[in-house]
Amino acid sequence: MIREVKTNYAEEKSVLAEPVYNRQGKMIYPSGTVITVFNRMQIYMEGVQHIRIYEKMLDYQLQEVIRPEVHNKMTAQLRQLVRIRGTKPDEDRDFKLYEVKAMMSSVVEDFLGEKAVIEKLASMRSAYEYLYQHSVGVMIKSMLLGTSLGLSKMQLESLGRAAIFHDIGMLFIPLEIMKKPKLTEEEYQTIKSHPVKGYLFLKDNASLDAEILKAILEHHERWDGSGYPNQKKGHAIHENGQVIRLADTFDSMLNDRPYRKAYSVSEVHEFIMSQSGTHFNPKLVEEFKQNINPYPINTLVELNDGTSAVVTGTNAPFHTRPILTIVKGPLRGKKIDLMKTRSYTIIKTLKDPGEVSDTVD
Ligand SMILES: [Fe+2]
Repeated sequence: MIREVKTNYAEEKSVLAEPVYNRQGKMIYPSGTVITVFNRMQIYMEGVQHIRIYEKMLDYQLQEVIRPEVHNKMTAQLRQLVRIRGTKPDEDRDFKLYEVKAMMSSVVEDFLGEKAVIEKLASMRSAYEYLYQHSVGVMIKSMLLGTSLGLSKMQLESLGRAAIFHDIGMLFIPLEIMKKPKLTEEEYQTIKSHPVKGYLFLKDNASLDAEILKAILEHHERWDGSGYPNQKKGHAIHENGQVIRLADTFDSMLNDRPYRKAYSVSEVHEFIMSQSGTHFNPKLVEEFKQNINPYPINTLVELNDGTSAVVTGTNAPFHTRPILTIVKGPLRGKKIDLMKTRSYTIIKTLKDPGEVSDTVD
């Protein structure tokens, strides 16, 4: 497979798949040439912006940075999240899914030529597995929110780039501190330095535009001005920084951390709703509410009369009133459509089947 890349992004040791000609039409390098720092610079200085190289090297790099199973997981997660939007015709959803997927790939590929950044990402994968998974998760959720906000293709690309690197500054925080369940004030201050550290690292090591760097720097600012590092408030916070803040909260709460267990989607929902206007821009919270289903299919729930049921259908956009099937007792197997049966409400989600209540027996 052959791939076209920006000349200055071509990795050392990659191999030219086609000869390179200068503006006068004279061949300066034949196909098969191994790219070095020197010849890459020379090709670039000759005004050749793009070259074609063999894909093999690129595939290798792609696996180094984003493993295939994570790539697949990203796609599957995105598919599920997009599907549960459920408010628009299928063609529209499919189109959006296709677009966002293509953009995610372009975001990842774009960084393959940035050596220092790749090394950082690779170290993120080995020493900081959670951070790596989280970065991918935040990118997916940010782009999903960005899509529903109606951002343009260019804006979405910028958002995706900022999202995947939003926590890269964490690589400069000692692992012992990151893993500690309880932090001293001094350690907390160290953690809080990660947006600035990430911003400075990327500013010096990657060719990212100022908008992306700003979003990364501001991803811990809060709508009411109580965030860090600069206590920015409201619309003064970069819009992509605001989106990443919400996606970051959503993704972190869904994962186990050294100091707590993962929350359920509905608990995360409640938390995010409760922080509308304080942590988050209310407009973003509204989008989130419309687009993220707190009770995905197969979620076990408990109803107000103690009945345990499993979510077997949705009533989008009324995500809090899904279709359920009772899972225990004499009524086991009976369907309840919460849109039609107003006397029932969901009290909580049950994390494991052992929690299933016996009340209906
Ligand atoms: Fe962060």
